[in-house]
Amino acid sequence: LTEPAIVGSVLGADYARLGEEVADLTAAGVGRIQWDVMDRRFVPNLTFGPDVVAACRGHSDLHFEAHLMVQEPDPLLADFAAAGCGTLIVHAETCPHLHRTLARIRDLGCRAGVAVNPSTPLGFVRHLLDQLDQVVIMTVNPGFGGQDYIASMEEKVAELRSLVDRSGTAVTIEVDGGISRSTARRAWCAGAELLVAGSAVLAHPDGKRAAVAELHRAVA
Ligand code: DX5
Repeated sequence: LTEPAIVGSVLGADYARLGEEVADLTAAGVGRIQWDVMDRRFVPNLTFGPDVVAACRGHSDLHFEAHLMVQEPDPLLADFAAAGCGTLIVHAETCPHLHRTLARIRDLGCRAGVAVNPSTPLGFVRHLLDQLDQVVIMTVNPGFGGQDYIASMEEKVAELRSLVDRSGTAVTIEVDGGISRSTARRAWCAGAELLVAGSAVLAHPDGKRAAVAELHRAVA
C-alpha cells in the first residue's frame, strides 16, 4: 500500500440492497470491502454468514475482508474463504491457539489478520508477526457501527507501527471503529495504513463518493 486505503464496512448498509451497496462503495473509491461477521456471543450483535458474502462477490472486484467477531472462528474459515474473502481477520481474544489458526488461514490461500480489542495488549501478536499479514487495532468496542473513536488507542497504533518497522515484516496496520473526517488523520499519523469506515461513508449526507473523497483528503 503506498497510500492509506479507506476500507468500506457494510455493517450499516441497506441490507435490502446489499449487492448494490457493495457496488456503490466500490464506485465511491474504497480500497477494500469489510464484512463485520458477528455471532451474538463474542459481540452483542448478529450479522452476516458466508452465503451473504458469496451473494455479493459478483458486485465488486475489490478485495473482501471478513472480520470474524465470533467466539469460534476456526470452523468458519474455509466457508468465508470460499465465499470470496481474501483476508480473514480473527480476534486474538477468541483464539487460544492463534498460531495454528493463522496457519490454517494461510493454508486456505488467504491473508491472515488478527484484531485486538481496546483492552487487549499487543503482546498477543508480538511473537507472531512472521505468521501475520495484518493487525487490526479496534478503536471501538466491537459490535456496532456509529460508536465514538477511542483516541487512547493511537498509542497502541504507534507501538505496533514501531514493532512492525523493527521486525522487517510487511504486516499491514488497520484501524477499525469511529473513523471519520476528524479521526482519520489522527489514526493515519499514528501509523495506520488501512482505515475501516462504516457510518462515516454509509450515512454521509452528500453520498458515498463525497464521503470517501473527504476521508482521503483528511489523510493526504
Ligand atoms: C464494530 C465494527 C465497526 C465497523 C465500522 O464492531 O467493526 O467498527 O466496522 O463502523 P463505524 O465506522 O461506523 O464505526
